[in-house]
Amino acid sequence: METTAKYLLVAGARPNFMKIAPIHRAFRARRDGHSSPEVLVVHTGQHYSRNMSDDFFRDLGIPEPDINLEVGSGSHAEQTARVMMAFEPACVEHRPDWVIVVGDVNSTLACALTAKKLGIRVAHVEAGLRSRDMSMPEEINRLCTDAISDLLFTTDTIADENLRKEGVAAEKIHFVGNTMIDTLRQQIGRARQVPLPEGLEPGEYAVLTLHRPANVDCRERLALILGAINAIAERIPVVFPVHPRTAPRLKEIEMHPRIRIVEPMSYVPFLGLVARCRMVLTDSGGIQEETTVLGVPCLTMRPNTERPITCEIGTNVLVGTDPRRIVREADWILGGNARAGSIPEKWDGCAGERIVGVLLNQGAQDACLV
Ligand code: UD1
Repeated sequence: METTAKYLLVAGARPNFMKIAPIHRAFRARRDGHSSPEVLVVHTGQHYSRNMSDDFFRDLGIPEPDINLEVGSGSHAEQTARVMMAFEPACVEHRPDWVIVVGDVNSTLACALTAKKLGIRVAHVEAGLRSRDMSMPEEINRLCTDAISDLLFTTDTIADENLRKEGVAAEKIHFVGNTMIDTLRQQIGRARQVPLPEGLEPGEYAVLTLHRPANVDCRERLALILGAINAIAERIPVVFPVHPRTAPRLKEIEMHPRIRIVEPMSYVPFLGLVARCRMVLTDSGGIQEETTVLGVPCLTMRPNTERPITCEIGTNVLVGTDPRRIVREADWILGGNARAGSIPEKWDGCAGERIVGVLLNQGAQDACLV
Protein backbone atom coordinates (compact mmCIF):
# COMPACT_ATOMS: atom_id res chain seq x y z
CA MET A 1 0.00 0.00 0.00
CA GLU A 2 1.26 3.49 -0.80
CA THR A 3 0.92 6.32 1.72
CA THR A 4 0.89 10.04 1.20
CA ALA A 5 4.20 11.63 1.97
CA LYS A 6 5.69 15.02 1.23
CA TYR A 7 8.84 15.46 -0.83
CA LEU A 8 11.10 18.42 -1.56
CA LEU A 9 12.84 17.87 -4.91
CA VAL A 10 15.96 20.04 -5.11
CA ALA A 11 17.78 21.46 -8.13
CA GLY A 12 20.35 24.21 -8.20
CA ALA A 13 22.62 24.16 -11.22
CA ARG A 14 22.32 23.43 -14.91
CA PRO A 15 23.03 19.67 -14.84
CA ASN A 16 20.46 19.15 -12.07
CA PHE A 17 17.47 20.27 -14.11
CA MET A 18 17.61 17.32 -16.53
CA LYS A 19 17.87 14.97 -13.55
CA ILE A 20 14.82 16.20 -11.63
CA ALA A 21 12.47 16.42 -14.65
CA PRO A 22 11.79 12.66 -14.95
CA ILE A 23 11.37 12.27 -11.18
CA HIS A 24 8.81 15.05 -11.12
CA ARG A 25 7.01 13.52 -14.09
CA ALA A 26 6.94 10.08 -12.45
CA PHE A 27 5.46 11.56 -9.27
CA ARG A 28 2.79 13.35 -11.30
CA ALA A 29 1.91 10.08 -13.02
CA ARG A 30 1.25 8.49 -9.61
CA ARG A 31 -1.38 11.04 -8.65
CA ASP A 32 -4.79 9.47 -8.29
CA GLY A 33 -7.81 9.80 -6.05
CA HIS A 34 -6.41 7.62 -3.27
CA SER A 35 -2.79 8.54 -2.70
CA SER A 36 -1.35 11.82 -3.79
CA PRO A 37 2.30 12.38 -3.07
CA GLU A 38 2.99 16.05 -2.53
CA VAL A 39 6.11 17.20 -4.34
CA LEU A 40 7.52 20.71 -4.11
CA VAL A 41 10.30 21.79 -6.47
CA VAL A 42 13.08 23.78 -4.80
CA HIS A 43 15.43 25.90 -6.93
CA THR A 44 18.44 27.02 -4.92
CA GLY A 45 19.41 29.66 -7.49
CA GLN A 46 23.03 28.44 -7.75
CA HIS A 47 22.53 28.96 -11.49
CA TYR A 48 20.28 31.90 -12.25
CA SER A 49 21.01 33.25 -15.77
CA ARG A 50 18.23 32.68 -18.29
CA ASN A 51 20.37 30.38 -20.44
CA MET A 52 21.75 28.44 -17.45
CA SER A 53 18.40 27.96 -15.70
CA ASP A 54 15.01 29.27 -16.92
CA ASP A 55 15.41 27.93 -20.47
CA PHE A 56 15.92 24.45 -19.02
CA PHE A 57 12.71 24.57 -16.98
CA ARG A 58 10.82 25.67 -20.08
CA ASP A 59 12.47 23.10 -22.42
CA LEU A 60 11.92 20.22 -20.02
CA GLY A 61 8.39 21.08 -18.92
CA ILE A 62 9.35 21.39 -15.24
CA PRO A 63 6.82 23.58 -13.42
CA GLU A 64 7.93 26.87 -11.93
CA PRO A 65 9.78 26.15 -8.67
CA ASP A 66 7.55 26.21 -5.58
CA ILE A 67 10.45 27.48 -3.49
CA ASN A 68 13.18 29.80 -4.78
CA LEU A 69 16.22 30.27 -2.55
CA GLU A 70 17.97 32.74 -4.90
CA VAL A 71 21.46 32.20 -3.50
CA GLY A 72 23.48 33.07 -6.64
CA SER A 73 27.25 32.76 -7.11
CA GLY A 74 30.04 32.97 -4.55
CA SER A 75 33.00 31.06 -3.19
CA HIS A 76 32.32 27.43 -2.29
CA ALA A 77 31.86 28.26 1.39
CA GLU A 78 29.65 31.26 0.68
CA GLN A 79 27.48 29.42 -1.81
CA THR A 80 27.11 26.27 0.31
CA ALA A 81 26.41 28.29 3.46
CA ARG A 82 23.85 30.51 1.73
CA VAL A 83 21.97 27.49 0.41
CA MET A 84 21.93 25.96 3.89
CA MET A 85 20.73 29.14 5.55
CA ALA A 86 17.95 29.61 3.00
CA PHE A 87 16.93 25.95 2.85
CA GLU A 88 16.62 25.42 6.61
CA PRO A 89 13.59 27.70 7.09
CA ALA A 90 11.99 26.19 3.97
CA CYS A 91 12.31 22.72 5.54
CA VAL A 92 10.95 23.95 8.84
CA GLU A 93 7.98 25.59 7.11
CA HIS A 94 7.10 22.73 4.75
CA ARG A 95 8.09 19.78 6.98
CA PRO A 96 8.83 17.26 4.20
CA ASP A 97 9.19 13.54 4.86
CA TRP A 98 11.97 13.34 2.29
CA VAL A 99 14.41 15.70 0.62
CA ILE A 100 15.53 14.42 -2.78
CA VAL A 101 18.86 15.74 -4.07
CA VAL A 102 20.53 14.94 -7.40
CA GLY A 103 24.08 15.01 -8.75
CA ASP A 104 27.12 16.51 -7.10
CA VAL A 105 26.93 20.31 -7.11
CA ASN A 106 27.24 22.55 -4.06
CA SER A 107 23.45 22.75 -3.77
CA THR A 108 23.27 18.95 -3.55
CA LEU A 109 25.50 18.78 -0.49
CA ALA A 110 24.10 21.89 1.16
CA CYS A 111 20.49 20.67 1.03
CA ALA A 112 21.38 17.11 2.07
CA LEU A 113 23.27 18.39 5.11
CA THR A 114 20.53 20.81 6.11
CA ALA A 115 17.78 18.19 5.85
CA LYS A 116 19.70 15.49 7.69
CA LYS A 117 20.42 17.77 10.65
CA LEU A 118 16.70 18.52 10.89
CA GLY A 119 15.99 14.77 11.04
CA ILE A 120 14.49 14.70 7.53
CA ARG A 121 15.33 11.70 5.39
CA VAL A 122 17.54 12.29 2.36
CA ALA A 123 17.47 10.47 -0.98
CA HIS A 124 20.48 10.98 -3.27
CA VAL A 125 20.01 10.40 -6.98
CA GLU A 126 23.23 9.57 -8.87
CA ALA A 127 24.96 8.23 -5.76
CA GLY A 128 28.21 6.29 -5.66
CA LEU A 129 30.10 7.97 -8.53
CA ARG A 130 33.76 8.42 -7.60
CA SER A 131 36.65 10.09 -9.43
CA ARG A 132 39.02 9.50 -6.46
CA ASP A 133 40.20 13.06 -7.12
CA MET A 134 39.79 15.16 -3.99
CA SER A 135 40.85 18.31 -5.84
CA MET A 136 37.42 18.24 -7.55
CA PRO A 137 34.78 20.05 -5.50
CA GLU A 138 32.21 17.61 -6.87
CA GLU A 139 34.07 14.61 -5.41
CA ILE A 140 33.85 16.14 -1.94
CA ASN A 141 30.15 16.84 -2.51
CA ARG A 142 29.57 13.25 -3.67
CA LEU A 143 31.36 11.64 -0.72
CA CYS A 144 29.70 13.81 1.92
CA THR A 145 26.20 13.54 0.42
CA ASP A 146 26.40 9.76 0.12
CA ALA A 147 27.71 9.42 3.67
CA ILE A 148 24.54 10.96 5.14
CA SER A 149 21.86 9.81 2.68
CA ASP A 150 19.16 7.33 3.70
CA LEU A 151 18.47 6.12 0.16
CA LEU A 152 21.14 5.99 -2.53
CA PHE A 153 19.97 5.68 -6.13
CA THR A 154 22.72 4.58 -8.51
CA THR A 155 23.21 4.74 -12.27
CA ASP A 156 25.40 1.64 -12.61
CA THR A 157 26.78 -1.32 -10.70
CA ILE A 158 30.25 0.23 -10.37
CA ALA A 159 28.61 2.88 -8.17
CA ASP A 160 26.89 0.15 -6.12
CA GLU A 161 30.25 -1.48 -5.56
CA ASN A 162 31.86 1.85 -4.54
CA LEU A 163 29.16 2.39 -1.93
CA ARG A 164 29.34 -1.14 -0.57
CA LYS A 165 33.14 -0.80 -0.18
CA GLU A 166 32.54 2.40 1.82
CA GLY A 167 30.30 0.44 4.17
CA VAL A 168 26.88 1.62 2.99
CA ALA A 169 24.22 -0.94 3.94
CA ALA A 170 23.01 -2.89 0.90
CA GLU A 171 19.33 -2.14 1.62
CA LYS A 172 19.92 1.60 1.19
CA ILE A 173 21.36 1.17 -2.33
CA HIS A 174 19.03 0.96 -5.33
CA PHE A 175 20.38 0.54 -8.86
CA VAL A 176 17.74 2.37 -10.87
CA GLY A 177 19.46 3.69 -14.02
CA ASN A 178 20.07 7.23 -15.13
CA THR A 179 17.51 10.04 -14.91
CA MET A 180 19.61 12.25 -17.21
CA ILE A 181 19.19 9.58 -19.86
CA ASP A 182 15.42 9.45 -19.19
CA THR A 183 15.37 13.10 -20.22
CA LEU A 184 17.58 12.48 -23.24
CA ARG A 185 15.28 9.72 -24.47
CA GLN A 186 12.24 11.93 -23.96
CA GLN A 187 13.69 14.89 -25.84
CA ILE A 188 15.89 13.39 -28.57
CA GLY A 189 13.18 13.38 -31.26
CA ARG A 190 12.55 17.08 -30.74
CA ALA A 191 16.27 17.82 -30.49
CA ARG A 192 17.06 16.29 -33.89
CA GLN A 193 14.46 18.61 -35.47
CA VAL A 194 16.19 21.80 -34.28
CA PRO A 195 18.03 23.33 -37.26
CA LEU A 196 21.81 23.26 -36.90
CA PRO A 197 23.62 26.59 -36.67
CA GLU A 198 24.11 28.06 -40.11
CA GLY A 199 26.76 26.42 -42.28
CA LEU A 200 27.02 23.19 -40.25
CA GLU A 201 26.22 19.79 -41.76
CA PRO A 202 25.48 16.62 -39.75
CA GLY A 203 28.66 14.63 -39.10
CA GLU A 204 30.90 17.47 -40.25
CA TYR A 205 31.63 19.44 -37.10
CA ALA A 206 32.89 18.83 -33.58
CA VAL A 207 31.47 20.17 -30.30
CA LEU A 208 33.66 21.53 -27.50
CA THR A 209 32.72 22.29 -23.87
CA LEU A 210 35.10 23.36 -21.11
CA HIS A 211 34.20 24.54 -17.64
CA ARG A 212 36.10 22.53 -14.99
CA PRO A 213 38.02 24.85 -12.66
CA ALA A 214 41.16 22.70 -13.16
CA ASN A 215 41.02 23.38 -16.91
CA VAL A 216 39.73 26.92 -17.18
CA ASP A 217 40.74 28.82 -14.04
CA CYS A 218 44.44 28.69 -14.99
CA ARG A 219 45.16 30.64 -18.17
CA GLU A 220 48.22 28.51 -19.11
CA ARG A 221 46.29 25.23 -18.86
CA LEU A 222 43.40 26.66 -20.88
CA ALA A 223 45.79 27.98 -23.56
CA LEU A 224 47.40 24.52 -23.88
CA ILE A 225 44.04 22.82 -24.35
CA LEU A 226 42.89 25.43 -26.84
CA GLY A 227 46.19 24.99 -28.70
CA ALA A 228 45.12 21.38 -29.31
CA ILE A 229 41.65 22.51 -30.37
CA ASN A 230 43.22 24.99 -32.83
CA ALA A 231 45.05 22.07 -34.45
CA ILE A 232 41.83 20.01 -34.62
CA ALA A 233 39.99 23.00 -36.16
CA GLU A 234 42.36 22.73 -39.15
CA ARG A 235 40.51 19.52 -39.98
CA ILE A 236 36.95 20.15 -38.80
CA PRO A 237 34.90 23.15 -37.60
CA VAL A 238 34.38 23.23 -33.84
CA VAL A 239 31.29 24.68 -32.11
CA PHE A 240 32.11 25.96 -28.63
CA PRO A 241 29.22 27.03 -26.36
CA VAL A 242 31.11 28.93 -23.69
CA HIS A 243 30.28 28.50 -20.01
CA PRO A 244 30.22 31.79 -18.04
CA ARG A 245 33.11 30.56 -15.91
CA THR A 246 35.28 30.13 -19.01
CA ALA A 247 34.25 33.22 -20.98
CA PRO A 248 36.40 35.89 -19.26
CA ARG A 249 39.58 33.85 -19.75
CA LEU A 250 39.16 33.41 -23.49
CA LYS A 251 39.90 37.03 -24.30
CA GLU A 252 43.67 36.75 -24.22
CA ILE A 253 43.90 33.37 -26.04
CA GLU A 254 44.26 33.09 -29.79
CA MET A 255 41.67 30.88 -31.43
CA HIS A 256 41.37 29.34 -34.89
CA PRO A 257 38.69 31.07 -37.02
CA ARG A 258 36.93 27.71 -37.46
CA ILE A 259 36.23 27.57 -33.71
CA ARG A 260 32.74 29.01 -33.47
CA ILE A 261 32.13 30.58 -30.07
CA VAL A 262 28.48 30.70 -29.02
CA GLU A 263 26.55 31.49 -25.82
CA PRO A 264 25.59 28.60 -23.49
CA MET A 265 22.72 26.76 -25.18
CA SER A 266 19.53 25.47 -23.65
CA TYR A 267 18.99 21.72 -23.37
CA VAL A 268 17.12 20.72 -26.52
CA PRO A 269 19.23 22.64 -29.09
CA PHE A 270 22.43 21.47 -27.39
CA LEU A 271 21.28 17.85 -27.43
CA GLY A 272 20.45 18.23 -31.11
CA LEU A 273 23.90 19.68 -31.77
CA VAL A 274 25.67 16.82 -29.97
CA ALA A 275 23.49 14.10 -31.50
CA ARG A 276 24.54 15.08 -35.04
CA CYS A 277 28.21 15.94 -34.54
CA ARG A 278 31.29 13.93 -35.53
CA MET A 279 32.80 14.02 -32.04
CA VAL A 280 32.68 15.83 -28.72
CA LEU A 281 35.63 17.23 -26.77
CA THR A 282 34.65 17.98 -23.20
CA ASP A 283 35.47 18.10 -19.50
CA SER A 284 31.83 17.71 -18.46
CA GLY A 285 30.51 14.76 -16.46
CA GLY A 286 27.03 14.42 -17.93
CA ILE A 287 28.11 14.79 -21.56
CA GLN A 288 30.22 11.63 -21.19
CA GLU A 289 26.98 9.77 -20.48
CA GLU A 290 24.91 11.48 -23.17
CA THR A 291 27.47 10.74 -25.92
CA THR A 292 27.62 7.11 -24.82
CA VAL A 293 23.86 6.75 -25.30
CA LEU A 294 23.93 8.69 -28.59
CA GLY A 295 26.86 6.61 -29.91
CA VAL A 296 28.87 9.79 -30.52
CA PRO A 297 32.67 9.59 -29.93
CA CYS A 298 33.71 11.61 -26.87
CA LEU A 299 37.18 12.72 -25.79
CA THR A 300 37.19 13.70 -22.13
CA MET A 301 39.94 16.18 -21.30
CA ARG A 302 40.46 15.23 -17.67
CA PRO A 303 42.89 12.94 -15.86
CA ASN A 304 40.08 10.86 -14.34
CA THR A 305 36.36 10.27 -14.53
CA GLU A 306 33.70 9.43 -11.96
CA ARG A 307 31.82 7.74 -14.82
CA PRO A 308 34.21 4.90 -15.83
CA ILE A 309 31.38 2.87 -17.34
CA THR A 310 31.30 5.32 -20.27
CA CYS A 311 34.93 4.39 -21.03
CA GLU A 312 34.53 0.68 -20.31
CA ILE A 313 31.56 0.06 -22.57
CA GLY A 314 30.61 3.44 -24.07
CA THR A 315 32.16 5.79 -26.61
CA ASN A 316 34.18 7.84 -24.12
CA VAL A 317 38.00 8.04 -24.07
CA LEU A 318 39.82 9.73 -21.23
CA VAL A 319 42.56 11.76 -22.95
CA GLY A 320 43.81 14.03 -20.17
CA THR A 321 45.06 17.49 -21.05
CA ASP A 322 48.29 16.76 -22.97
CA PRO A 323 47.70 18.61 -26.28
CA ARG A 324 49.55 15.96 -28.33
CA ARG A 325 47.35 13.19 -26.98
CA ILE A 326 44.17 15.23 -27.58
CA VAL A 327 45.14 15.88 -31.22
CA ARG A 328 46.23 12.27 -31.78
CA GLU A 329 42.95 10.83 -30.47
CA ALA A 330 40.91 13.35 -32.47
CA ASP A 331 42.85 12.45 -35.64
CA TRP A 332 42.10 8.79 -34.95
CA ILE A 333 38.37 9.51 -34.80
CA LEU A 334 38.48 11.77 -37.87
CA GLY A 335 40.30 8.96 -39.68
CA GLY A 336 37.17 6.83 -39.23
CA ASN A 337 38.44 4.76 -36.32
CA ALA A 338 35.96 5.73 -33.60
CA ARG A 339 35.06 2.73 -31.53
CA ALA A 340 31.48 1.58 -31.31
CA GLY A 341 30.18 1.51 -27.77
CA SER A 342 27.21 -0.04 -26.06
CA ILE A 343 24.67 1.38 -23.62
CA PRO A 344 24.86 0.64 -19.88
CA GLU A 345 22.18 -1.50 -18.25
CA LYS A 346 18.97 0.31 -17.22
CA TRP A 347 19.80 3.50 -19.14
CA ASP A 348 16.44 2.88 -20.73
CA GLY A 349 14.32 5.93 -19.88
CA CYS A 350 12.64 4.43 -16.80
CA ALA A 351 14.93 5.55 -13.94
CA GLY A 352 12.54 8.26 -12.70
CA GLU A 353 9.71 5.73 -12.38
CA ARG A 354 11.94 3.27 -10.53
CA ILE A 355 13.03 5.99 -8.08
CA VAL A 356 9.48 7.07 -7.36
CA GLY A 357 8.44 3.42 -6.96
CA VAL A 358 11.11 2.88 -4.30
CA LEU A 359 10.28 6.14 -2.50
CA LEU A 360 6.54 5.46 -2.33
CA ASN A 361 7.14 1.94 -1.14
CA GLN A 362 9.53 3.27 1.50
CA GLY A 363 6.87 5.63 2.80
CA ALA A 364 4.50 2.70 3.24
CA GLN A 365 7.10 0.55 5.02
CA ASP A 366 7.84 3.32 7.46
CA ALA A 367 4.14 3.91 8.12
CA CYS A 368 3.76 0.23 9.03
CA LEU A 369 6.39 0.60 11.74
CA VAL A 370 4.59 3.42 13.50
C1 UD1 B 1 28.75 24.18 -11.21
C2 UD1 B 1 29.03 22.85 -10.50
C3 UD1 B 1 29.61 21.85 -11.50
C4 UD1 B 1 28.74 21.71 -12.73
C5 UD1 B 1 28.52 23.11 -13.32
C6 UD1 B 1 27.67 23.09 -14.55
C7 UD1 B 1 29.70 22.99 -8.13
C8 UD1 B 1 30.85 22.86 -7.20
N1 UD1 B 1 30.01 23.00 -9.45
O1 UD1 B 1 29.99 24.71 -11.63
O2 UD1 B 1 29.71 20.58 -10.87
O3 UD1 B 1 29.37 20.86 -13.66
O4 UD1 B 1 27.91 23.92 -12.32
O5 UD1 B 1 27.57 24.39 -15.06
O6 UD1 B 1 28.58 23.05 -7.70
N2 UD1 B 1 27.49 32.04 -13.57
C9 UD1 B 1 26.69 32.82 -14.36
N3 UD1 B 1 25.37 32.52 -14.44
C10 UD1 B 1 24.84 31.47 -13.77
C11 UD1 B 1 25.66 30.67 -12.97
C12 UD1 B 1 26.99 30.97 -12.89
O7 UD1 B 1 27.13 33.78 -14.97
O8 UD1 B 1 23.62 31.23 -13.91
C13 UD1 B 1 28.93 32.35 -13.49
C14 UD1 B 1 29.29 33.15 -12.27
O9 UD1 B 1 30.30 34.00 -12.61
C15 UD1 B 1 29.84 32.07 -11.33
C16 UD1 B 1 30.47 31.09 -12.30
O10 UD1 B 1 29.65 31.12 -13.45
O11 UD1 B 1 30.70 32.59 -10.39
C17 UD1 B 1 30.56 29.69 -11.78
O12 UD1 B 1 29.29 29.24 -11.34
P1 UD1 B 1 29.18 28.16 -10.13
O13 UD1 B 1 27.79 27.74 -9.90
O14 UD1 B 1 29.95 28.67 -8.97
O15 UD1 B 1 30.01 26.93 -10.64
P2 UD1 B 1 30.10 26.24 -12.08
O16 UD1 B 1 31.48 26.42 -12.59
O17 UD1 B 1 28.96 26.59 -12.97
